[in-house]
Amino acid sequence: MKSFNTIASLQAELAQHSGRQIGLVPTMGALHEGHLSLISRAVAENDVVVVSIFVNPIQFNNKEDLQKYPRTVDADLEKIAAVKTSKEVLVLVPSVEEMYPEPVNETYHFGQVEEVMEGPRRPGHFSGVAVVVRRLFDIVHPQRAYFGEKDFQQIAIIRNLLSQIHYPIEIVPCPIVRADDGLALSSRNVRLSAEARAIAPTIYDTLQQAVEMSQYEDVEDVIEYVMSTLSSFHEVTPQPNGLKFEPEYFEIVDDTTLQPIARWDDAKGVVGCIAVWLDGVRLIDMVRFR
Ligand code: PAJ
Repeated sequence: MKSFNTIASLQAELAQHSGRQIGLVPTMGALHEGHLSLISRAVAENDVVVVSIFVNPIQFNNKEDLQKYPRTVDADLEKIAAVKTSKEVLVLVPSVEEMYPEPVNETYHFGQVEEVMEGPRRPGHFSGVAVVVRRLFDIVHPQRAYFGEKDFQQIAIIRNLLSQIHYPIEIVPCPIVRADDGLALSSRNVRLSAEARAIAPTIYDTLQQAVEMSQYEDVEDVIEYVMSTLSSFHEVTPQPNGLKFEPEYFEIVDDTTLQPIARWDDAKGVVGCIAVWLDGVRLIDMVRFR
């Protein structure tokens, strides 16, 4: 593993590998097994892997979330170094000034895929993601780029970005890695108190119940079940310190267009995506129905 703080030094290294297959894994650091699964997959499918670690300020619509975002670069580099491979793994860890020497004035629009779920609730978020991901594409010129299905909408956004800019890059979606108790791994999980962490797996339990129910209940009833189970959890199981789940949305959507469906056979692929506040932390998760 080699790490680089400047774009020029990474590109000088990449110039030594011309003609080789490059896989890109963009991250914001605070790496966990979810990120490492993307890196392992990229290592298996490419000659050279570039991992980026950059907490991208322009994709945060909430200042406090940006300030509180965990930053653990030394530990991150150790985790990447421990990935067993004989392939070249290059890590870009740029400063904000290195990534954005000029104020950013690009904005991207994605039509209907950004009009649902995270889009209206995090204004400017996906445009900020697209700006940084495009910049990384321009720096690295990968053949493939790896993204986790935990951020399901983000994958649709990146596919839409590629259809706008016509780069020949293959997007490789990777399954969600979960803790043993089912909670989707997230860099933000470290901000949960012990009490909140203990009940957080209820989100995935409820999603799995929803998949069960989808065999005999309507879409609308399954949505109602998930929202009401989580919002009333603290009434059914009293919690200390006013701890409670506050679901922001649960949407059941076509896995390609991300538009809500009314009946299970309205789309070939159907997923459910959720955002829930718990203990001041916003958690997201998703599950496949069809
Ligand atoms: P970050 O949240 O660090 O996630 C980096 C990548 O890891 C994303 O593709 C995300 O979907 C994936 N990931 C996170 N948790 C995962 C899990 N439990 N299982 C599988 N994959 C998981 O997503 C971002 O950063 C940023 O928006 C970024 C794309 C880097 C642009 O700044």
